[in-house]
Amino acid sequence: MDTLRAVVIGAGNLGTVHARNWAQIRGVEVVAVADPIALRAEGLAKELGLPNFFADYREALALPDLHLASVATPTCFHHECTLAALDAGCHVLCEKPLALTLAEGREMRKRAETAGRKLAVGFCKRFMGQVETVANLVHSGRLGRPVMYRHVSGWEIRPKPWIMDGHMGGGPLIDIACHYVDQCRVIFGAEPLRVKAAGMLFSRGAPELPGADPQLDTFTLTVEYQSGDVLALSMSWGLPLGVGSDSLEDCLGPRGLLKITADTVTLLTRGGTAEVFGNLGTDMYLRQQQAFADAVRGDLPVAADARDGLIALQVSLAAIESIETGEAVALEAM
Ligand SMILES: NC(=O)c1ccc[n+]([C@@H]2O[C@H](COP(=O)([O-])OP(=O)(O)OC[C@H]3O[C@@H](n4cnc5c(N)ncnc54)[C@H](O)[C@@H]3O)[C@@H](O)[C@H]2O)c1
Repeated sequence: MDTLRAVVIGAGNLGTVHARNWAQIRGVEVVAVADPIALRAEGLAKELGLPNFFADYREALALPDLHLASVATPTCFHHECTLAALDAGCHVLCEKPLALTLAEGREMRKRAETAGRKLAVGFCKRFMGQVETVANLVHSGRLGRPVMYRHVSGWEIRPKPWIMDGHMGGGPLIDIACHYVDQCRVIFGAEPLRVKAAGMLFSRGAPELPGADPQLDTFTLTVEYQSGDVLALSMSWGLPLGVGSDSLEDCLGPRGLLKITADTVTLLTRGGTAEVFGNLGTDMYLRQQQAFADAVRGDLPVAADARDGLIALQVSLAAIESIETGEAVALEAM
């Protein structure tokens, strides 16, 4: 395995990120990109000087001697494209969320095991300097335990209708909540136990979403972890065009508070003493792909695998159930 030959499935925003990153990682060669919007595949292939581009990903996967595939399609296609890439002998880096259903995700996990190939999920926030720093500070005991991690934000309806659609992206509880559930598993070093959520749908009938089946877009959920730590996530992707709320991201503990911003984490302790951890900005996508290539080469575990994808998806689905029933939902071990 001198050079890892990679295929990128999907040439939208994330597929472009993946292809550009593979092109700069030593020992990886992108041999094809595929997208049913052929102009996108062609544009990306031209930009990077790739030898092949296809409208049908199956033609890309028919190329000889492939090692890696990035799956960066709308979520409803992750299952199909990942299975096909595994069957073609590729190790797969599939964008988050893993899939729309646990049944699909379990099949992907099983196929990877049977094929003896790695299946990684694009939980890129694991490679953010802020998340690494918060995890280190929480594990070191500087905040005391248990802690409460909070994220609050309110955004306008996402410009890509597929993300909001139940059949294509699953809506924000599936698409975005998974990042926070996953990063808190890393920060707390513990598994989620129970979810309670309340939510609503602001974007029903919105002119931005013609033909879409928008899902709950505004929600507050609390996830209790085995360690006693709690994630409190309150988000909206359903505000009118041009309207957004202030965001808050922090982590509270009995001994202090971590304020989290774009590239800085500030630890505030008794008396208001501030310790600043700065310059934390990293290229999380590039680091994620480098780590994936290293894992393939060295036959090492990937940073986030199918089980990690399933756990995050399970929490999202439990939050939806909790909103529908008004009850807390206990989670099963995955
Ligand atoms: N890790 C992150 O931070 C992050 C950020 C944004 C999006 N994502 C995820 O990445 C995935 C892609 O999102 P995006 O923002 O790039 O979407 P996008 O809409 O910009 O691009 C998706 C592309 O996939 C193409 N496509 C559709 N069906 C296909 C198929 N069968 N084969 C090949 N290509 C196909 C579309 O034509 C489109 O060009 C989603 O799962 C999304 O949740 C992850």
